[in-house]
Amino acid sequence: MPKQGEKLMGIRTRSILIMGILGILAITAIGFTSYQLSVKNALDEAKVKSKIILNYAMATKKYMKTVQRPLVKELIESDRFYPELMSGFVTARGTFEIFKKSSPQYTFKQATIDPLNPSNQADAEEIAFIDHFAKNPDKKSSEGIITKNGSDVFYFAKPIKVNSAGCLNCHGDPYDAPKDQVEIYGTESGYNWKLGDTVAAFIVYIPTADAIAAAKNLSYTLMSIGAGGIFLVLLILWFFLERSIVSPIVELAQRTNDFSLGEDLDTPITNKSKNEIGILAHAIERLRISLVKLLK
Ligand code: HEC
Repeated sequence: MPKQGEKLMGIRTRSILIMGILGILAITAIGFTSYQLSVKNALDEAKVKSKIILNYAMATKKYMKTVQRPLVKELIESDRFYPELMSGFVTARGTFEIFKKSSPQYTFKQATIDPLNPSNQADAEEIAFIDHFAKNPDKKSSEGIITKNGSDVFYFAKPIKVNSAGCLNCHGDPYDAPKDQVEIYGTESGYNWKLGDTVAAFIVYIPTADAIAAAKNLSYTLMSIGAGGIFLVLLILWFFLERSIVSPIVELAQRTNDFSLGEDLDTPITNKSKNEIGILAHAIERLRISLVKLLK
């Protein structure tokens, strides 16, 4: 038989251990899920932002094409071409350059394999996106996370195709291109595109590092609040267990053991709990009285 002290400590230690393990499991679960959820949230937000930026940039391009260019054409000689007044690509790029001054973290690019304007030159990764669009003509957009200049960014991209013969007036044979355009951009690149080719992609980049850091902070906060709450619940639970179960059982075990050794037989057991422990206490008390009578 194990020593009395060991066994009684056993109930306490065991319940503390179980509650401790449950507490740690619950806190870990809260931390893990809240981190996963906030990272997902951060990426969803990056996705929404990238679509807003792209849609807005494309709207400025379309406004130029459908509203301003027809009016400008009425005002100028038919063989003149002023990119700033007539090209949607110039408007989208120029508007974004101004937008970027107030929101430098965002990038919008009309990344092109062989552009008129060198600032639209696609880098190696962007060329891979464009090739991917060229090989998958049904794909309307692509998105994901890549590393740019050492930090993670979310990207959202849409293909640009030479979808009308009109494009080739300026991007076909340089000899057919508007003289104004040739004067500004030269004849080196941005020409000899073919109808149907996927030549470029609209791409928006949104940094994710800050959002992920914020997600981490949020999960730490939730974890601390959760840990506090769980600690409080366990404390209340422990208080209840200790008062109404552990402590009375410890006492009854001690007294019964004493009785069996003939000790302390004159002190009655006073536990009046209205539960199984009360019944047990009452039964032991009757045993004590019988024992006292028997001994007399
Ligand atoms: C009237 C001439 C003209 C026409 C027509 C035209 N473009 Fe352009 N395009 C330009 C000029 C000029 C630029 C340079 C923009 C800049 O400075 O950012 C440009 C830029 C672009 C760019 C960005 C890469 C670069 O070359 O700098 C793409 C992509 C593009 N055009 C695609 C098209 C497509 C597709 C069409 C047909 C739907 C089209 N363009 C029709 C003149 C034209």
